[in-house]
Amino acid sequence: MLAIIGGSGLTQLGNMEVTKRLVMRTPYGEPSGALTFGRIRGHEVIFLARHGYAHTIPPHDVNYRANIWALSSQNASHVVSVASVGGIRSDLAPGSLIIPDQIIDYTHGRKSSFFDTRDKPVTHTDFTEPYCEDLRQKCLRAAGISGKAVFDGGVYAATQGPRLESAAEINRLERDGADIVGMTGMPEAILAKEAGLCYATIAVVANYAAGRADSVHGVRLEDVNTVLKVAMEHVRAVIESLAEIHDD
Ligand code: HPA
Repeated sequence: MLAIIGGSGLTQLGNMEVTKRLVMRTPYGEPSGALTFGRIRGHEVIFLARHGYAHTIPPHDVNYRANIWALSSQNASHVVSVASVGGIRSDLAPGSLIIPDQIIDYTHGRKSSFFDTRDKPVTHTDFTEPYCEDLRQKCLRAAGISGKAVFDGGVYAATQGPRLESAAEINRLERDGADIVGMTGMPEAILAKEAGLCYATIAVVANYAAGRADSVHGVRLEDVNTVLKVAMEHVRAVIESLAEIHDD
C-alpha cells in the first residue's frame, strides 16, 4: 500500500476519502499523529502529517522512527514524502517541484536507526541510493500525467533546523553538491530503507535558500505560505495520479 507523509503546507489531503483514523503506540513512542486511512480515486492509501495535524512538531523533534514503524506495521510498502525545501540551484525557483535522487545528512542528535541497541545485531544498511528508484520514476510519471513540471534528480541537504541557514552555510552546501536544503529528509529516508520500504520524496521549493536571489538579504517567511499554498495543489494532483498508477 502507498503511504504519504505530508510536510509543511500539507497537513491533510483534500482529495482523500477518509475511512479510518488510527492512533498508535509503537516500540519507539508515538507517531506525529493518528494514521489516516482512506482512498484517493478509489485506491487505498495511508496519510500521516509529519509535523502533526496542527503543525506543532519541529523537524528535530519529529519521532521519525515511530512514524516509519507505524506505517510499516500497517502494511505500507511504499512511502512518498512531501517536503518543503529551500532552492540552492538558481533554476530551482520558489514553487518548483523536484524529485531528489541523493541526500547529504547534516543533522545531529536524531534517532536515526532501528538497530541502535545491543539487543539487536549490528546492522549496516546500504545507502548508496537513498531513494527508491522505482517510486521516484512513478512520481515523475505521475507528474507527467497530471501535467505538472518537476525536476528529475538533485541532491537534498538535510539540515538540523529549526533555524534557517546562514548565507555562508548555503555556499558550503552548494560546494558540497547540494541543490536543495530541507530539515526533514533525514533520518526519514534511512529509516524507511532499514524498514524495507520503498521511499521517495517530492520536494517543494518554498523559497530561494539564504543569500540567494530574492533571499539575498534574508528569507521572507511571510511569502513562504503563499508559495506553498499554490505548490501543494500541484503536489495533490501528482499524488492523485501516483495513487492511480501505483499497483501494490
Ligand atoms: N532551508 C531549510 N529548510 C527549508 C528551507 C530553507 O531555506 N525552506 C523550506 N524548508
